[in-house]
Amino acid sequence: MAFPRHRLRRLRQQEPLRRLVRETWLTASDFIYPMFVTTGKSRKDEIASMPGQYRFSVDLAVKEAAEAKRLGIPAVILFGVPDSKDEKGTGAYDPAGIVPQAVRALKEQVPDLLVITDVCIDEYTSHGHCGLVKDGRILNDETLDCLTAMARVHAEAGADMVAPSDMMDGRVLAIRNELDRGGFTELPIMAYAAKFASCFYAPFRDAAQSSPKFGDRQSYQMDPANVREALREIRSDIQEGADIVMVKPALPYLDIIAAARANTTVPIAAYQVSGEYSMIKAAAHAGWLDESRAMLESLLAIKRAGADMMLTYFAKDAARLLNS
Ligand code: PBG
Repeated sequence: MAFPRHRLRRLRQQEPLRRLVRETWLTASDFIYPMFVTTGKSRKDEIASMPGQYRFSVDLAVKEAAEAKRLGIPAVILFGVPDSKDEKGTGAYDPAGIVPQAVRALKEQVPDLLVITDVCIDEYTSHGHCGLVKDGRILNDETLDCLTAMARVHAEAGADMVAPSDMMDGRVLAIRNELDRGGFTELPIMAYAAKFASCFYAPFRDAAQSSPKFGDRQSYQMDPANVREALREIRSDIQEGADIVMVKPALPYLDIIAAARANTTVPIAAYQVSGEYSMIKAAAHAGWLDESRAMLESLLAIKRAGADMMLTYFAKDAARLLNS
């Protein structure tokens, strides 16, 4: 069984042989590219805490998405950065809002690129929370009406998939019912099922200007300590009708991805979040890590753990490397 008969190094001696025994392969087809869209024209504002990521006006978002598609990336997911916010996040379900505008433009100008929309009101609320607020508490059932309205508006604009990220209980079922009522029975839902209350979202909140103005998100996002609870979240979202379930963040939560893979049969998405991206960018900028290798190794690890697809700000760079 063991040495000297077996030498595991034998299979590592040459690249062609290493390729034959390689268990996990990354391809551009694994990626979903997250994009921030905002108002105006010809705007491409770099996000300070996410070098290489931008807030795009719709016209330039179309160009960026077209390039992603050329690189073999199957999908983008859109986040809206509106000009104004209010207490109830009403901009989230405005049919003339920034995301519906972007969806319409993308579906018209970049056909065959899958357009996913993030469904959550935090980018549209003045307090920055993912739900309606009363007396300092984040309301659950009252928020569902906002989310269903938002999903409906995205569907009507032509979105190919909606992705609720708010972590309210019952939102997948509520959205499924609303979509079905509207005739969108074939429109899939990718549920941010196990979304943890993580510090790694900080650069995103800078990008989307969506930091909570009071308190934190621990009454709705998950405790980073819990894996069994993550499986309950995943199971309940599947029962409610989720077609794809997501684990988020990704690299610090590989055990959650692996547990999800072992316990479910639905496709699993993992979100390599803004903080994961910015850590690699910062270390590479300082000369401490090789950026290309760090990006590919982290994505490979996420896929190896069990993810079928990855949401990553590295999508274009990684696709370029993989295609070359
Ligand atoms: C909520 C949402 C967040 C992210 C995706 N959807 C922010 C949050 O929960 O505070 C984070 C993504 C990232 O960090 O890249 N709409």
